[in-house]
Amino acid sequence: VNAPQKGTLLRSTEGAMPLAGRARDARSSAIREILKVTLRPEVISFAGGLPAPESFPVEALRQAFDKVLREVGPGSLQYSTTEGHPALREWVAARETARGVPTSADEVLIVSGSQQGLDLIGKAFIDEAAPVLVESPSYLGALQAFGQFAPTFRAIPTDADGLLPQALDAPLARGARFAYVMPNFQNPTGRTLTSERRIELAAAAREHDFWLVEDDPYGDLWYRAAPPPSLRAFAPERTLRLGSFSKILAPGLRIGFIVAPRPMIDVLIRLKQATDLHTATISQRAAFEVLSGNLMADHLPAVRQRYAAQCSVMLEALEQHFPRDAVWTRPLGGMFIWVELAGKVDTTALLARAIERQIAFVPGEPFFANDAPRNCLRLSFVTVPPESIRAGIATLGEVVRATTT
Ligand SMILES: Cc1ncc(COP(=O)(O)O)c(C=O)c1O
Repeated sequence: VNAPQKGTLLRSTEGAMPLAGRARDARSSAIREILKVTLRPEVISFAGGLPAPESFPVEALRQAFDKVLREVGPGSLQYSTTEGHPALREWVAARETARGVPTSADEVLIVSGSQQGLDLIGKAFIDEAAPVLVESPSYLGALQAFGQFAPTFRAIPTDADGLLPQALDAPLARGARFAYVMPNFQNPTGRTLTSERRIELAAAAREHDFWLVEDDPYGDLWYRAAPPPSLRAFAPERTLRLGSFSKILAPGLRIGFIVAPRPMIDVLIRLKQATDLHTATISQRAAFEVLSGNLMADHLPAVRQRYAAQCSVMLEALEQHFPRDAVWTRPLGGMFIWVELAGKVDTTALLARAIERQIAFVPGEPFFANDAPRNCLRLSFVTVPPESIRAGIATLGEVVRATTT
């Protein structure tokens, strides 16, 4: 019964533990094992999904925690409500409203990172084998979170402008509980869904009666212009919109939010109560202090500028060093570039060779729920300084050429 499945690295003692099927199936991926070497300082890693630590507003957060402890005192260290800190919920609602979708604070649930939001949504929607629509490729962490509840993933085809709403015909969409979509600077591809497709997707959701789970941790990280209106703007009655402070403040705070119709928020509150009672009181209060001050007006443009510059450096280096028949995305924001190599190359095997040259990336395969192609890879440029981006892409280009020719 406990025989390791293909790709599973079970520790020998696990065989003796009375694990639930869900825990036995939670795989420690072979790729994660390979990527452990990225902790070595000599490795140039384009594999990370982490924001640049230089972008964390450390001093502002220190002052905010100080102020909260001084002024609120023990109350900032006490248990608090499951819904979240009222002022932070108001802040989120006001920002959604300012962006054109009237929202009240009771349509906002604060969660412990949007990753918890994905878990709660999985708990709320997914019975075993229930159909769930995901982009192809999609965010690995969402496939893992939903995967715990054993859905049947149905892949929505995509092109350079994101998912193809016209593909959501009856056979694909029938019976689907929800579609999980990252409309802005998608992880892993960096693609952005056009306004027209957002409208068509909302229409398809109404026609086939499924909900939209809009995951938008990168929307504020645009380079030249803000992305189109949120998916929620086009179908507020059937959208759960997930936001995060991980990429604009700091991921270690573990604060994100879900905006959804109040009856859906009520369901999620009950599930969250059973999961962790509430998100850390002091983190929420300190984050609110920073967000409601003047810092964001300077901080966000600086982060955007930093990421835009690093993205350009990587795009130039790819032009210079990658084979002509490779294609890659040109993101308008966010943290990732997606590369498709020509021919029969397997990027998991390529990773082993790149690691020998002290370069790391993430192979594309785990980002696909079904039918994964082998020739794709994800590159992150945000934690690597420009000189190392140039040097690393030059070396990776050599490895790619040596493998594909
Ligand atoms: C698309 C997407 N959703 C959700 C998350 C989780 O973010 P957090 O839990 O830090 O808010 C990430 C993290 O990288 C992400 O890329």
